[in-house]
Amino acid sequence: MSALKTLPSWQALTQHAVFPKANHDEVARMNVLTHLNYHLSARVLPGVKLSYEQRVKPAFVKSQGREPASRHEIRQAMLQDSYFQFWSALRRNTMEMRHQAGRSMVLRQIDRIVDQVDALNQHASTLQLNDSIEVPHNISDVDIHCQPGCYYTEYFENDVTVAASYDAGLFVTTAGLLGALSDGGGQGIANWLATEHPDFKPRRILDIGCTIGHNVVPLAQAFPDAEVIAVDVARPSLRYAHARAKALGVDNITFVQANAEQLPQFANESFDLITTAMFWHETSHRAMPAILKTIQRLLKPGGLTLHLEQPQYQGMGLYEQFIRDWDTYFNNEPYWGPMHDLDLTAMLAAAGFNAEDLFEIGVVSKVDETIFGKREAGDSGEDYGRAPVWNAFGLWKK
Ligand SMILES: C[S@@+](CC[C@H](N)C(=O)[O-])C[C@H]1O[C@@H](n2cnc3c(N)ncnc32)[C@H](O)[C@@H]1O
Repeated sequence: MSALKTLPSWQALTQHAVFPKANHDEVARMNVLTHLNYHLSARVLPGVKLSYEQRVKPAFVKSQGREPASRHEIRQAMLQDSYFQFWSALRRNTMEMRHQAGRSMVLRQIDRIVDQVDALNQHASTLQLNDSIEVPHNISDVDIHCQPGCYYTEYFENDVTVAASYDAGLFVTTAGLLGALSDGGGQGIANWLATEHPDFKPRRILDIGCTIGHNVVPLAQAFPDAEVIAVDVARPSLRYAHARAKALGVDNITFVQANAEQLPQFANESFDLITTAMFWHETSHRAMPAILKTIQRLLKPGGLTLHLEQPQYQGMGLYEQFIRDWDTYFNNEPYWGPMHDLDLTAMLAAAGFNAEDLFEIGVVSKVDETIFGKREAGDSGEDYGRAPVWNAFGLWKK
């Protein structure tokens, strides 16, 4: 077994103006949960595989006369296994405790956070909220990844509780590997564009499902002359996102409350770059085709659409599919598995793209290694869902 890894403290996160301030016990709570999460993925999870290979699979083969034929058969068999139950229950609990810890910290200072958000947002034309936008069912029907109130619930006027809790809590799940601003994905895209396509200078950028803008801010910084539009349906998240971007000195993003299934306010072929980050696995079979069609309509010929996601299941081993699928059944992520089963080529073709142009790349989250450490080859801290090595798919529109 490798030496115990030292994780950074939650205090390494950038304390921007609207970030919740933590007292001693709150920092300790975040750090305990971060370590528990890391311990579960690095030390306990390998035992789940052993349980499968040494106990569950042989018992299945003995009773059925064949190996499991799908991840669903593996899950059904593993549900009876006490080691899997132990890991799964702790993982779920860590997620629930993350939300509880983040939320209680935010709620005790919510008046100050709201005042600061309001001051940064006052009279801003770059924050466009629209009361008539309904939250679509893929978001309203479930508290995604056990987050109370999901991304959109408001408990009082100008509330940002859900957004500030999300900002504070991500670190626990990723063990800091997304960086001091939890923006490693966006930094990874900006870095990939600078390295692989240095001549590509998008003038208009659209980010869909921006939540609190973690991953769109690095793009706005990479292209300071671009007009960047970030859309989401979740009002408290947009309020917080706008104030957070301002607090970080970023002025070229307009945050718009809108449903990406339509976006009638934007003209055909009016964006050079359209991105999403960890978005599709929270959309439904109804929403995803509609949003892809919107992207096809809005993207200029010669433009790029690029999407950070976890890898599709096609061609993946059944055990890995089963582990990755944990979120679908135990973490309030009902679209996770169904989305990762989809044939992206067929989806893009149905949306009107030339699907032969589809490419897939690995985007490595770029973070400050002096604080957060280097991700080493064979590092088993992967938690199959929010790891800092991303799969991205995209295409250049001809
Ligand atoms: C997993 S979060 C995305 C995380 C974010 N992109 C980031 O980089 O941290 C999904 C977001 O998509 C938003 N969303 C879901 N369906 C949408 C739709 N039809 N139109 C606009 N936003 C949507 C949700 O409100 C939520 O904020």
